[in-house]
This record gives sequence, structure tokens and C-alpha cells, in this order.
Amino acid sequence: MKKYSFVTVILSLVFLAFTYWTEKDVFVNENYVFAQKQLKHLLDTANKVDTLFPRTTGKGGQVVLTNKYEWTSGFFAGSLWYAYELGKDEDMRKQAIKWTEKLEPLKNFTEHHDLGFMMYCSYGNAYRLTKNTKYKEVLVQAAKSLSTRYSPKTGSIRSWNRFGSWDGQHKYDFPVIIDNMMNLELLFFASKVTGDPTYKNIAITHANNVIKNQIRPDYSCYHVVCYDPQTGKVLAKETAQGYANNSTWARGQSWGIYGFTMAYRETGDKRYLETAQKMAQFYINHANLPADGVSYWDFNANQKGYLPSVNSHAPETPINYRDVSAAAVTASALLELSAFKVPDAAIYRNAGIKILHSLSSPVYRAQPGQNGGFLLKHSVGSIAHGIEIDVPLIYADYYFLEALNRYKLIN
Ligand code: GLY
Repeated sequence: MKKYSFVTVILSLVFLAFTYWTEKDVFVNENYVFAQKQLKHLLDTANKVDTLFPRTTGKGGQVVLTNKYEWTSGFFAGSLWYAYELGKDEDMRKQAIKWTEKLEPLKNFTEHHDLGFMMYCSYGNAYRLTKNTKYKEVLVQAAKSLSTRYSPKTGSIRSWNRFGSWDGQHKYDFPVIIDNMMNLELLFFASKVTGDPTYKNIAITHANNVIKNQIRPDYSCYHVVCYDPQTGKVLAKETAQGYANNSTWARGQSWGIYGFTMAYRETGDKRYLETAQKMAQFYINHANLPADGVSYWDFNANQKGYLPSVNSHAPETPINYRDVSAAAVTASALLELSAFKVPDAAIYRNAGIKILHSLSSPVYRAQPGQNGGFLLKHSVGSIAHGIEIDVPLIYADYYFLEALNRYKLIN
């Protein structure tokens, strides 16, 4: 009798636990269990090499790794941190620390603007989850390095050192790409923890100039705006990774939605909120957005009125591939946007959840043990360059995991 009661109590407790688990809990947990297994698989590969960072897979399905100076180097550690946050697995935490600390030398890196991605996705999450002051110091030094690329003349951070137009005719020394909005989060962080407003002021001036020069009246965006470094004048508005100069490259739009949502969180400036919302509405309401919410790689690829420049490789790939990375970034951004007090909050929330469910379906999510250990399939690096077409990408996985964490936390 005594034994029977004990079993009954345990079974009742298990039953109660399950009845208190919402559909959301089950969904997030199922994705976490999958992600943890896949990341362990990817860790096996990465730990064998130990000095290079997973990015995608190659033609034969092998994992392609890059050195730490590539813009994607921080996403692997960041993915490990988000997986740790979901499951609190001690081994995952140790691996996240190991892969974060490999990036420390980047704190003095000044060769391109992507330091924000590289350091904030790795060290930023490391600091958020451990409060280790050593990580804070690395982040502040990285913000100093990123700030060296700011010019008061253009009021912008210089993304790349040089950009050559796809028409083969022009070269520019001060290109600014929409992706750069993402790197501002590191600067906002540095001002918060040091009390020095310099970093934040740079971020604000940069974001204001993006609104002025990079966002179109319909709240789509140009990928690249080229400035004259001497006068600050805008010389050209073009694309590097989109279909055409006047088209809307999907991931660029996603960076904008995410970047302005983050800028509103950090400043409370209503202009940023409005920009984030209008950019989100462009994505959600676009006639060319498939029903599952996972956009094509460019909203205007192969459409009348949009022509790739002569040297672009875009015409070599006439298939309208989806870009899961753009969808993952958008899902994460929409879930954050939906948490603000805005009239359309439910629309953003539902759209973000819909994308998350699409991405975790077998159409986009890998079979366990496959895909080199990456979580998601069907992303696009750059069709204009003819590279990384319809492949897994580490940043798609990172923003998918971030979106799962955000979904878990919102009501
Ligand atoms: N930041 C580079 C890219 O989105 O491909």
C-alpha cells in the first residue's frame, strides 16, 4: 500500500508537470533537445580543429570553418550560450566559455565593422549570462576598436574599407551597409557599463543617418550607401548582396527590423520604433512573402523593373531560393518588437511565432545527425557573389536559438 501511494504520487506529479506545460513550453523544449544534440555534433567537428569557427557546409556536406576575423566567428559561441540558456547544461556552458574566449584577440581588431556581431554575440551573451567582469572589459575594448571606424564627417561607421560596384565602374572608400545597424548594440552596451556617452552618441548619429540616407519611403532599404569621406556627401546607393541596386535584399531588411528595434530598446527614441515597425510591416505584408513567412532571398529577384548590374552573379541563379537566415533574424526581431506597447504588437508576435514554427518544421529544420550539425537548412549567403546558396549558415541557427529564448520569455 505504501509503495502504491509513492508511485501514485510520482505519477501524479509527472501528470501535473505535463498539464502545466503549455504548448509553447513543449515546442521550445523539443527544439532545445534537438539543438543540443546537433550542437554537440558540430562541437565534435569544431573541437577537432580547435582554431577555426563553423560557418556552413561545402558541396560534399562537410563543415566549412573560418578564421576568427570573418564576420561570422562569434555566432558559434553565441549559439552555445543560447543553448545553455535554454537547458542549463553544464557541458554546454564550458564549451560556450571555451569558444568565446578564443575570440579575445579580436578586441583590438579594426579592419571592418562586423566586430559588433563577432564580439556581442559571443562575449555579449557570455557577460549577460555570467556577469564575469573580464568579459565586460573585453567588450568595452571592442567598442573602442569599432569606434575608430566612425567619421564625424559622414556621421557613420565605415562598414568596409572599400566597395566596388557590380557595374565594374566605381570604387568607394566609405561604404555603409544596413547590416551595420546590428553592430551598434555593442556601442550602446559600452556606454551603459562605462558611463561614457561617446559610444552611444556614435550609435545614435549612425542610426539617424541610416534613416536619412538608407531607408526608402516605403521602408524597404538600400543595402549599401557610399559616402564621400572628405565631404560626407552620399555618392551612391547600391547593393552588394541583393538582386539589384533598387531591390530589397531580404536579410538587409531583417537587419534593419532587428537593428531599429534594438535601437529603440536602448534609447526610447520613437523614431526608431516607427522605423522598426514600418520595416517589419514591409516584410510581413509583402505580396511576395510566401505563406510560411520565410522570405525569398530578395523580395524582388527576377521581377520586372529590377536588373542586376553587369558583374553580379545573380543571373546565374534564377531560382528564387528562400533565405532562412533572413527569416530567423526577422522572427527574433518581431518577438522583441511585440513586447513593446504598440498597437500592432499581436501582429508582430503572431508573425514571429509563425516563422519560428515554419523554421522548426522538417522543411527547414535538419534531420537529427544531419546537416553537419547545423540546425537549419536553406539559407543564402550571397547569390550576387555566387556563394553559399541554399546551405546551412551559423547565423541562421544563432538567431533561431535567440528567437526561441525570446519566445520562451514573452507572455
Ligand atoms: N553581414 C553580412 C551578411 O549579412 O551577409
